[in-house]
Amino acid sequence: MKVQSLRAKIAINKQVAAHAYKMTLMAPAIAKKAAPGQFVMVRVTDACLLLLRRPFGIHSVKGSNVDILYGLAGVGTKLLSQKKPGGYLDLLGPLGKGFDWRSGALVRQSPVLIAGGIGVAPLVFLAEKLKKLKPVVLLGAKTKSHILCEKEFKALGCDVKVATDDGSKGYKGFVSELLISVIASLPSVARNDVLSLYACGPRSMLKATAAIAKQYNISAQVSLEEHMACGIGACLGCVVKVKSKKEKGKSFEHKRVCKDGPVFDAKEIVWVPRPEPPNAKIRRRGTRDEFSAKNILLENSEG
Ligand SMILES: Cc1cc2nc3c(=O)[nH]c(=O)nc-3n(C[C@H](O)[C@H](O)[C@H](O)COP(=O)(O)OP(=O)(O)OC[C@H]3O[C@@H](n4cnc5c(N)ncnc54)[C@H](O)[C@@H]3O)c2cc1C
Ligand code: FES
Repeated sequence: MKVQSLRAKIAINKQVAAHAYKMTLMAPAIAKKAAPGQFVMVRVTDACLLLLRRPFGIHSVKGSNVDILYGLAGVGTKLLSQKKPGGYLDLLGPLGKGFDWRSGALVRQSPVLIAGGIGVAPLVFLAEKLKKLKPVVLLGAKTKSHILCEKEFKALGCDVKVATDDGSKGYKGFVSELLISVIASLPSVARNDVLSLYACGPRSMLKATAAIAKQYNISAQVSLEEHMACGIGACLGCVVKVKSKKEKGKSFEHKRVCKDGPVFDAKEIVWVPRPEPPNAKIRRRGTRDEFSAKNILLENSEG
């Protein structure tokens, strides 16, 4: 599929929670081709401050508009939150391999969507596609005020259940524990024929989801997040270890999250601890680019 590189006009950039924003971008060429689980690479500033584009899952597509839902993480997302409607952003997309929701038994199975924090972003687009199957949606967040998109899922007819770390809403504990209780409430014969899991969120949550899926013999797809430089499969900066199918005697190989993923069959992933990137020390101190960007942020906020 041809990747589009375009300048998209910002239609809306709205704060939806203390820590999150939703941006609507006018990007017909991307909207036409986008599939749930795919992402866009956004150049957050035209100045040579942050050279790398930032990846964001496609949250929703309405006509020729593409929405992204983003949390404030660092300098890039802070700059993004300051963008005004009418401005333009450089976009690359749609990128990657999204969720498979159409092949084999998946079209008959009951989808369970599991979201951790801002990982909810691409699952709304998926729920829109799966709405006839009345998905169960499990939303995990730190606190009640960190829960996102509950209304959107309910409007699509989803059965929404919530878990918060502090118990301020719904189940007190991890969303993966909530998943176990949902699965355990089903008759055991039905579980692996009936359910299919789709998850996006922190790595620990995805790893737990994969373990639960394995224990109950349920199909599961997980959307991984890795630091990305190019987003198009060229730099190998985003590789993860997967079980090897190709070479005999070799137990694993590497796949690129941006090109072969971000969505993978949970059974494929080798859940090794994430190595610290080679530039981690510099990143912790902040790069020269980031210091310059922080100055820009300061100038913007003072102006
Ligand atoms: C395929 C994909 C889809 C994504 N979709 C979304 C989305 O829909 N909404 C959303 O809010 N975020 C999403 N992210 C994460 C988002 O790209 C990062 O939060 C963003 O790039 C941070 O940029 P920054 O300049 O604000 O932060 P930086 O200053 O670059 O970093 C701030 C902190 O965020 C961490 N971080 C930066 N990039 C990533 C990353 N790719 N994965 C994990 N941690 C990271 C850094 O380690 C650091 O601790 C996605 C990431 C990937 C790989
Ligand atoms: S980000 Fe360059 S190969 Fe994935």
